[in-house]
Amino acid sequence: MTAPAPPNRRPPGFGSDNVAGVSPAILAALAAANEGPMPSYGADEISARVEARLSQLFEREVAVFLVSTGTAANALSLAALTPPWGAVLCHAESHIENDECGAPEFFSGGAKLIHVPGAEAKIDPQALAEAARRNRGDVHCVQPAAVSITQASELGTLYSVAETAAIGAVCRQAGLPLHMDGSRFANAVAALSASPAEMTWKAGVDVLSFGATKNGALGVEAIVLFDRERAGELAFRRKRAGHLSSKMRFLAAQMEAYLADDLWLANARQANAMAARLDAGLRALPGVTVQGRVEANMLFAQLPQTMIEGLLAQGFRFYTDRWGAGVVRLVTSFATREEDVDRLLEAAAKLG
Ligand SMILES: Cc1ncc(COP(=O)(O)O)c(C=O)c1O
Repeated sequence: MTAPAPPNRRPPGFGSDNVAGVSPAILAALAAANEGPMPSYGADEISARVEARLSQLFEREVAVFLVSTGTAANALSLAALTPPWGAVLCHAESHIENDECGAPEFFSGGAKLIHVPGAEAKIDPQALAEAARRNRGDVHCVQPAAVSITQASELGTLYSVAETAAIGAVCRQAGLPLHMDGSRFANAVAALSASPAEMTWKAGVDVLSFGATKNGALGVEAIVLFDRERAGELAFRRKRAGHLSSKMRFLAAQMEAYLADDLWLANARQANAMAARLDAGLRALPGVTVQGRVEANMLFAQLPQTMIEGLLAQGFRFYTDRWGAGVVRLVTSFATREEDVDRLLEAAAKLG
């Protein structure tokens, strides 16, 4: 007889939302999709249902390409929007700039990422308009070809619908397509009182990387094309990149379960609520300064060094130092519970 597994006593992880496991409903959907044969390479009925469901959610006919990582979703989306001599205008804090090992440059055949400034990791529309004009027609320079913004941003901040629309208007004026890295799109939708359509194509977004992995899936992201004409090219790009999964039904099953009964929103609300609880608790601790507003499921705080070291020694996990000395990033997920937050707060209070 096997001994029962010991209770999981590991301190909760705040390193990222992808340290969490998988929502039980998504695991159940994977098991259900395991019954019998199904056509491969996305010709299965679950993939068709996912495209229909996302079309319903976004209130227009969209084309959907499922891939297994956010990096693939971003890099393939951008590759479809820019020629090799193009520039993708993005924020210096963006994931495509800092954390994708050059994948957008690689898949686009050499396009260059050019930074556009803006507070709180959000592109400033005025600065974007200037960047979109720069070097136009100069054969010695890469040519502005696409714009990418992140929602929720890498600093956990949100573009309001009006802010996205302001970026969208500049893009339209300059003739540049707009990509949104929505790795945490669910957290943004849960936090803003706006519909997915209002937050994307109605505000000028052409392509969305619609994340699921960080918010309860095992490993699936959807490239959502609001302009279906780009679909032909993307199909070849996905295959060439090795992301046309032969057993696509298992990616589709995850996405279907993620969207069913608004699991994606329930999960995101939980993650956001836990960040708010953490925010309130940390602000009450002497010596701790929470930076800016906490809008989604991520917060940055300045902690005394002894507190950081003490928490890490007790097994709490989070990133530190990348955002300045003594600044830590804490990320909550659908799996974070009140008691997890309270454990961290109690430990921090004792170290204060
Ligand atoms: C803003 C953002 N975009 C995209 C991704 C997707 O990354 P991955 O390729 O690890 O799934 C992440 C993950 O950390 C992210 O934070």
